[in-house]
Amino acid sequence: MSTNKNISIGLFGFGCVGQGLYDVLSNSQGLKASIDKICVKSKNKDRKVDMSFFTWDKNVILSEKKHDVIVELIDNADEAFAIVKEAIENGVSVVTANKKMLAENFETLYKLQEEHKVALIYEGSAGGSIPIIRNLEEYYDNELLTGIKGILNGTCNYILTRMELENKDYSEILKDAQAVGFAESDPWLDVAGFDTKYKLVLLTVHSFGIILKPDQVLNLGINTVSYDDILYAKRHGYRIKLIARAEKINDKVRVFVLPHFVPKDTDLYNTLYEYNAVEVEGAFSCKQTFTGKGAGAHPTGSAVLSDISALTYDYKYAYKKLKSLKNKFNGSYEALHLLDKDFTLKLYIRFKDKEELKELDIVDIEEEYKSAATNYIIANVKFNSLFNIYNKPENKLFVCVVE
Ligand code: HSE
Repeated sequence: MSTNKNISIGLFGFGCVGQGLYDVLSNSQGLKASIDKICVKSKNKDRKVDMSFFTWDKNVILSEKKHDVIVELIDNADEAFAIVKEAIENGVSVVTANKKMLAENFETLYKLQEEHKVALIYEGSAGGSIPIIRNLEEYYDNELLTGIKGILNGTCNYILTRMELENKDYSEILKDAQAVGFAESDPWLDVAGFDTKYKLVLLTVHSFGIILKPDQVLNLGINTVSYDDILYAKRHGYRIKLIARAEKINDKVRVFVLPHFVPKDTDLYNTLYEYNAVEVEGAFSCKQTFTGKGAGAHPTGSAVLSDISALTYDYKYAYKKLKSLKNKFNGSYEALHLLDKDFTLKLYIRFKDKEELKELDIVDIEEEYKSAATNYIIANVKFNSLFNIYNKPENKLFVCVVE
């Protein structure tokens, strides 16, 4: 792509992030780019841009091939995949922030971009405004990365922060998070840890070159958290945070999303409201933490703008780690055998009735507390058995890692 000419953008979606991109681009001095067509679903919404820019037919953008870049910012992951696939097959580079769509279709999308020799970049899909993907991909290329650990969902962090600092009700804060545009249109994806997991799946590719399917990765969320849990954490010098972890242990990786008690005086403890943070640990660089706003129209819009700008110098992910790993495993991307699920975690588990614990493989109980109001145990539990309560809306246990 030539840097001298004006870049024509065909945009899909004009929700929170789409409008954020529009604002950020309108204020950008350096980048010569314009949104020339916007494809949306609803014909009846008031728009802040002249109606002549809009279309309701995706083919107006995809078939005419007039645009240099397709920017995909719609909500529905399946529709997003169809758009991105067609654009790549047409030889057009794509910028997206759709973590669910990327995580669910990673292998196909990777192969498509290699085949059609176009760029598919997605910095806005994980960590909001934090440039974490390009850093993992480029800066840590030759570094012996040992692990990443972070807060990747603004909505959960916003809820946990306000529950603790303002003693406000969970559902009231969730409503606020929806009103300001932090939450997904289906907020279950946020609070049950799915959104964090999709982001973690992407960061695992760029950290270790390992593609995992979202279903292979465990996530438990904060949907069952209570003020009692928050008080317990506070009394012991912790804050509860929903943490995504990918760690290399010998040749395998441990990858999961779980609430954690995070100790005082750490970067993650001090990450509040909709901010995200990613701790990257390397054998020689030791720990480095990246922080920034993780949700919201403008922070995410700015990451999308940065991707559009990167396309002007023909940037694409090199996927060096993925390529070298592929050679090691006879051309296969199947990475399930690299996922370590055979370990034990020390957990705080709050429950009502002991019967609720029957699905878990508890190795030993270190502490047990019972009262009229609340019951909990601190126990060492086989990680694998957490899959028995995974993705079950009827699960009422609150599970939190104690480190
Ligand atoms: N719902 C997401 C969050 C939006 O709260 O982090 C940004 O990816």
